[in-house]
Amino acid sequence: MRPLLRLLGFFRPHLGWVAVAVAGMVGVAFSAVFMLFLIKPVFDEVLVNADQAVAVARAARADRIPQVGVVKALQEWFDVAKEELRRHLPSDRSIILLLAFLAVVSKNVFVYLGNYAFFRSGLGAVKDLRDRLMDALLAQSAEFYQRQPTATLMSRATNDVEQITNAISDRLSNLFQDSFTLLGVLAFVFSLHFKLAVASVIVAPLLVWPLVHFAQRLRRRAFQSQERLGEMNTVLDEVLKGQRVVKAFCMEAFEAARFRDATSKHFRANLRARKVQAMTAPVMEILGAAGFLALFAYASHLIGRGEMTVGTFSSFLFSLYALYAPIKRLNNVNVALQTAIASAQRVFQVIDAPVVVRDAPGARTFSGVRTEIRFAAVQFAYEPDKPVLTGLDLVIPAGQVVALVGPSGAGKSTLAQLLPRFWDVTGGAILVDGVDIRDYSLASLRAHIGLVTQETVLFNTTIRANIAYGQKTVDEERLRRAAQAAFAEEFILEFPGGYDAVVGEAAVRLSGGQRQRLAVARALYKDPPILVLDEATSALDAEAEAVVQRALDNLMRGRTTLVIAHRLATVRHADSIAVMDGGRIVEQGTHVELLATGGVYRRLATLQGMVD
Ligand SMILES: Nc1ncnc2c1ncn2[C@@H]1O[C@H](COP(=O)(O)OP(=O)(O)O)[C@@H](O)[C@H]1O
Ligand SMILES: [Mg+2]
Repeated sequence: MRPLLRLLGFFRPHLGWVAVAVAGMVGVAFSAVFMLFLIKPVFDEVLVNADQAVAVARAARADRIPQVGVVKALQEWFDVAKEELRRHLPSDRSIILLLAFLAVVSKNVFVYLGNYAFFRSGLGAVKDLRDRLMDALLAQSAEFYQRQPTATLMSRATNDVEQITNAISDRLSNLFQDSFTLLGVLAFVFSLHFKLAVASVIVAPLLVWPLVHFAQRLRRRAFQSQERLGEMNTVLDEVLKGQRVVKAFCMEAFEAARFRDATSKHFRANLRARKVQAMTAPVMEILGAAGFLALFAYASHLIGRGEMTVGTFSSFLFSLYALYAPIKRLNNVNVALQTAIASAQRVFQVIDAPVVVRDAPGARTFSGVRTEIRFAAVQFAYEPDKPVLTGLDLVIPAGQVVALVGPSGAGKSTLAQLLPRFWDVTGGAILVDGVDIRDYSLASLRAHIGLVTQETVLFNTTIRANIAYGQKTVDEERLRRAAQAAFAEEFILEFPGGYDAVVGEAAVRLSGGQRQRLAVARALYKDPPILVLDEATSALDAEAEAVVQRALDNLMRGRTTLVIAHRLATVRHADSIAVMDGGRIVEQGTHVELLATGGVYRRLATLQGMVD
C-alpha cells in the first residue's frame, strides 16, 4: 500500500489536471445516465402512434408515482428542458430526439476532456518519477553501481516505469472512468425500478460466472497446448539437424513414429482448448437468454399490471447493458495495479538507496594544490576481508609527475579512483596540503581533477560538445588550442562538419588513438591542476601510442600528475617512480636510481627489454 500512496504523491504537482479529470468523468457519468433516462421517453413518446400515446400517457402517470432519487431529479430536469424547448420546437418528439443527441454530444465532449486531463496528470507524474530516478542514479557512488548491474538499472528506468505508465494509462484510467459511470448507472437502475433492479442483481452472477470460469479453463488448456507444441518442435528440430545420423542408422520409421506421437498429443491438447473456446459463446448466450427471458417475464407481469411502461423497461435493459462493459474491464484492474505497485517498489528501492560517498556537512571548497598530495597509510577494500591497499604511503609534490608502476592487479587503478573520491578510503587518509579530501565538497574536488583512462567514454553528440563536456558555453579559441595540443585537430577537420561532426555516426568512426586524443583534448579544455592518467595508452598500437604520448606530454606540463603506466618506457622521465606490490609502495626513486637498486623495478624493466 505504501508504494501506491507514494506513487500517488507524484500526482501532487498535477492536482489541477486531476481535478479537471474528475470533473470530466462526473460529466461523463451524468450524460450517460441522462442518455439512459431518455430511452424511456423515446420508446413511450417517440416510437408510438397517437392511440398508443394516450394509453402510454395513462400508464406513465401510474409509472411516475414511485419516482425517487436520480430518476426523480432527472425527470424534473427533463420537464424544465421540455418546457423551455417547446417555444422553439414543433413537437415533443423532436424535443426528445434533440435532447438525446445533446446528451450524446456532451458525454463525448466530457470523455475527451476527462481522458486528456487524466493522461496529462498521469504521464506528467510518470515523467517526474523518471526524472527523480535519474537524479538518484546520478547522485550514486561507484559502490552502488558495483552492486547493481547496469542492465538492472536500465530495466528500472525503462521497463518498470513503463509498467507504471501502462497501468496508469490503460487500467487506472478505466477504473477512474468506469467507477463514476458505474455508480451513476447503478443509482439510476435502482431508482428506476427497485424490485426489477434487485431481480437483476440476483440474475447477474449467472452471466458473469461462466465468463470467468471459461476464461480460466481456456488459459489452462492453451498453456498445455503450447507445451505440446514445444515437444513437437523438439522432435522436428532434432530430425532436421541430425538428418544424416537418422539416415545413417536407418531410423526414419522410428523418427516418424516419434513425431506422430508428438503430433497426436498436440492435436488432443489443442482440440481440448478449442473445445472450451467453442463452448464459451453458446453457453454464455443460453445462460444470458435464460436470465434475460426471466427478466422479460417479470417485466411483462409488471407492464401488464400497469406498474411500468415498455419505455421504462427498455431504459432498464440498456442500463444493464451499460453496466456490463465497465464491470468486465474492472476485472483486470487489480492485476494491473499489483504489477504497477511491484514496479513502483523496485523504482523506489533505487531512489532510496543510501549514497555512501557524499559531501560532509559544511564541506569546504577545494581550490588546488599548493605543496603536495599525500596518501597516508591508505587502506582500501572493495569487499570486506579482501584488502586491495594495505597501508600505502605516497607523496606527489605540487607540479611534479609521479609514476606508478607494478604488476597487474596490484591496485594501481584502485588508487587512482580514490583521488576523485569515486570510492572513499577504508583506512588512513588522502591529504591535500594537509587537509583530508573528505572535508572538501565532491563537486569542487572533482572540478580540479582531470582523468584519462584506458577506456574513453564519448557521448553521442558533436566533437565540440565531447571536448567541452560539462561546459555550458564553449570558448572556441580554447577549444581549438586544446584540440591542437592533443594532436586531434588534424583528424577532426577531416570529418564532414569538423568540430560539429557527431560522434558515433557512420562518417565519424574513431580509432582507439583518435579517441584517446579526444580524451586528452577534453582534459586540456578542462585545464585541471591535478591529473590522473591510468594506462591511457595501453590499448594502442605502437604508432598510435607515440602520438598520444606526445599529446599526454603536452597535457602533463605544469600539472600535479599521477601517471599509471604498464610500459615502463613511457614513464622513465617522470620526476619519481613508485613501484607498487601487495597493496603498498615497495620502491620509489628515479628511473636510474631504481635500476641501480636492483629490486622489483629492475626485474620489470628487464622483462620489458629495457635492460641489457
Ligand atoms: N570494482 C571492483 N570490485 C571488486 N574488486 C575489484 C574491483 N576493481 C578491482 N578489483 C580488484 O582489486 C585488485 C586491484 O585491481 P586494480 O586496482 O584494477 O589493479 P591494477 O590497476 O593495478 O591492475 C584486483 O585484485 C582486482 O581484482
Ligand atoms: Mg589498472
